[in-house]
Amino acid sequence: MSSTWHHAPVTTALIYGEFAAREAAGESPAYENLAVAVSRDARLIGLLDTLPPAKRQPNLLFAAGRFLGAPVTDPPAFLEFAAANWERIAHEIRHRATQTNEPARCALLLPLLAALPQPLALLEVGASAGLNLFPDRYGYRYGDHVLGSGDPVLDCALTGIDPPRELPEVVWRAGLDLNPLDVTDPADAAWLQALIWPEQDDRRERQRAAARTVASDPPLLVRGDLVDDLPALAAGAPAGATLVVFHTSVLYQVPDDRRRAFTDLVRTMRAHWIAVENPTVLDHAGLPHPPDERLHNVLALDGRPLAWARPHGEALTWFGDRP
Ligand SMILES: C[S@@+](CC[C@H](N)C(=O)[O-])C[C@H]1O[C@@H](n2cnc3c(N)ncnc32)[C@H](O)[C@@H]1O
Repeated sequence: MSSTWHHAPVTTALIYGEFAAREAAGESPAYENLAVAVSRDARLIGLLDTLPPAKRQPNLLFAAGRFLGAPVTDPPAFLEFAAANWERIAHEIRHRATQTNEPARCALLLPLLAALPQPLALLEVGASAGLNLFPDRYGYRYGDHVLGSGDPVLDCALTGIDPPRELPEVVWRAGLDLNPLDVTDPADAAWLQALIWPEQDDRRERQRAAARTVASDPPLLVRGDLVDDLPALAAGAPAGATLVVFHTSVLYQVPDDRRRAFTDLVRTMRAHWIAVENPTVLDHAGLPHPPDERLHNVLALDGRPLAWARPHGEALTWFGDRP
């Protein structure tokens, strides 16, 4: 049976318009203005359309621009810069990915990590530069409860449970990523910084502090896929430690069938599994209403949803069993 209804094609201009209205509005005036300007600029839209569809996304264009020194707070000047430097921008876009590494997500993991049998062997899939493999080295402030003395200090508004009393003891840490980044490599470090939105200086400073901590003791980071290469990496974890496979804000980048293959695999492993993911990519039955209208991810242990988590680790609202 044929239908006379057709979906309007999702054009690149539309993607930039939607990004301005839904993602940047209220978060980044600079990117909101820039995305609107790009959506209306036929020349840049035409250039973006020469890239593969997955490479046309606003975050990638804007980070590539920032990486190359484009004036992202001045839309007309940005459009000129992009046209004049398109080959360089396209090169960065083709060779790089959106893989923001946010160490503050450790504050979301900590209540669970601290409650598991110690010591821990941590295996992070989608680790980016591995900043979240060091939850034992940072400082934490859950309201007025302070824990640890490391740098950076991660602030998290925690409700529904008591804050953790002890840092976990980590005896092994390893990360898996399609494209691991090295915080000791100046270009990788600059790319990580460029991925953070212009107004978010506190996030840039936090990332720099975490990168210093990580650079003094770099983790094992392996290039590979979270399904195909997970068992081999997990086999290297020491016996006698609790193996924890975890991931934060990764599965939205993984196609449906591979996501299912990953969750099927991780459930068969002799490991605990911690996920902090958007509820649209990792389905959980019977979730309560989120605390407010803003975007919240779900913190889950071994497939059981436990808490709503703000995307950059700034708040954790517990609703499930206590750890
Ligand atoms: C948005 S970043 C999040 C990084 C880190 N988990 C964090 O929360 O700071 C997602 C990461 O997942 C990685 N990734 C995406 N698909 C993957 C796959 N199939 N296997 C391994 N890593 C993958 C990307 O390369 C990227 O570094």
